[in-house]
Amino acid sequence: MSELTKKIQEGVVRAAAELYGAELPAKQAVIQPTRKDFEGDFTAVMFPLTRLARKKPEQIGEEVGQWLVSHLDEIDRYNVVKGFLNLVVADSYWTTFVQQHVADASFGRFPATGQKVMVEYSSPNTNKPLHLGHIRNILLGWSISRILEAAGHEVIKTQIINDRGIAICRSMVAWKRWGNGATPESTGKKGDHLVGDFYVLFSKKFEEEYAAWQQTEEAERVFAERHKEGQTREEFFKAFKNRYFNEFSELGAEAREMLRRWEAGDEETLRLWRMMNDWVLEGFEETYRKLGVSFDKTYFESDTWQLGKEIIEEGLAKGVLHKDGKRVWVDLSNIGLGEKTIIKSDGTSTYTSQDLGTARMRYEEFGFHKMIYVVGDEQISHFQGLFEILRRLGEPYAEGLYHLAYGMVDLPTGRMKSREGTVVDADDLIEEVIAEARKHAEERGEIAELPREAQDDIVRKIGMAALKFFIIKVNPRKRMTFDPSESVDMQGQTGPYVQNAYVRIQSVLRKADACDADRATAYSALQEGERELVKQLYQYPEIIETAAREYDPSHVANYAYNLARAFHKFYHDYPILKAESEEARAFRLELSRMVARVLADAMDLLGIEMPDRM
Ligand code: ARG
Repeated sequence: MSELTKKIQEGVVRAAAELYGAELPAKQAVIQPTRKDFEGDFTAVMFPLTRLARKKPEQIGEEVGQWLVSHLDEIDRYNVVKGFLNLVVADSYWTTFVQQHVADASFGRFPATGQKVMVEYSSPNTNKPLHLGHIRNILLGWSISRILEAAGHEVIKTQIINDRGIAICRSMVAWKRWGNGATPESTGKKGDHLVGDFYVLFSKKFEEEYAAWQQTEEAERVFAERHKEGQTREEFFKAFKNRYFNEFSELGAEAREMLRRWEAGDEETLRLWRMMNDWVLEGFEETYRKLGVSFDKTYFESDTWQLGKEIIEEGLAKGVLHKDGKRVWVDLSNIGLGEKTIIKSDGTSTYTSQDLGTARMRYEEFGFHKMIYVVGDEQISHFQGLFEILRRLGEPYAEGLYHLAYGMVDLPTGRMKSREGTVVDADDLIEEVIAEARKHAEERGEIAELPREAQDDIVRKIGMAALKFFIIKVNPRKRMTFDPSESVDMQGQTGPYVQNAYVRIQSVLRKADACDADRATAYSALQEGERELVKQLYQYPEIIETAAREYDPSHVANYAYNLARAFHKFYHDYPILKAESEEARAFRLELSRMVARVLADAMDLLGIEMPDRM
């Protein structure tokens, strides 16, 4: 709740006490923004007072309105519509507000809460490059971290890199068999792309092997023995692929053997793994740099995969977990998830066992109050299960765990899958939006005379803003389509549109010679468009609070868009440099300056940089 809302609410409570001797609970003094069709900034709802005052709501409105105007400096006048008391805030309140906050870096920042929040995001697997889904993940993780910091929390940004297991072994087998010693240097490929290409190559060769096998007598026999009633050959072999990999495939056997050696600590295997992993990690770092994000702490599955042991022993002792032979399982039927395997019957760990151990390790290391996992919504039940087990184990941090589940991102042409090697690669997409931005910038011609380097920097900022804003403006939960050409449209609800408002203000400020800022507070003829703009600025801290509470950066993005739009309208409707009076000119300049500052601040929370020209 804003300071003004609180003051008005307290005012209404006091007015009720003094005028009617009534004790009105603060909650019932409802204050809302005034509807567009009436004059006013805030509206106090009078209906809850009728029973206490035993008068008509219109009359109560008049009496409370008079009381507020004479007791609160902030309120200038009022009007009553039915039971709604519309209050107009004094011009001097708004002009002083702008003067106080125009250069206030702490505007929109909350005092320290003492709460520690760990935010996990990105968390890629090392067998392939980052893709479009990771971009959404990374942008959400980064912006929610910044927003939580603004809201006063201490934030630790983390990722776990899933760098072990059968997937990376596939890439390793392919490199060994068909790689001819290729390296990022020898091929000029980014390391994660190189390894990803071998992953794809493995799949391709495996498909070939599988197709050839289907012509063999062995396959014939397997089909005859195992196919279900009415299943065609085609249907059967489509569904049988994984079992083929595990039971018959030569390549499958090789990959599994690779994994076995890795787990046994075989030096040669570890050397190959380390080399290829390092290539991938370097590639990831480069993409993170391009996206402007970083981590405070990175975990690797190769260090944590066996961590679950201790916590699992405890679970068994407490009767939370059960054991059949080597297999450990948990009954999650109370949350509709049935029986879940924690340790496989061959004694190997699972995704869940690893996450149990990692959660505890992180808590021991950082003592967080909250941990937010930014992970796609296809893993909702994994996290439900994980959190439920940790709760049953009585882990002290269990109640503070949260899965920020986001929806898939499509491209206009439909969804692409990584297995076929047609994944929408993060690096390619970044290139593409920057190229789009360059095309538009060249058409506009505004920056043509700048040196090449300066142009590149601006174009990069515009392209990245386009990409980031378009993705962040959508509520995380919703599935969305990313349209590169729409994202750079300066007329649309886009990053470049917001940047353009900022650039426009910079250009006005460059032309304004020194003006007397003190004159701005003497301005006392606030126009509707100015009032609208100030009120939006005034909301900024509340927007951050809401975004932090709901873990939803789209509030900040949409706020920035609305503020930019209000500014464009203001700019169109009122002269700034040629304003009707010195006071108006000074105020409009200060107001514009503050809009620019808040726009830049909001966009910065989303990881978006502002150009000075575009
Ligand atoms: N690497 C996993 C994947 O790409 C996501 C890991 C999410 N984090 C976790 N703690 N489970 O699907």
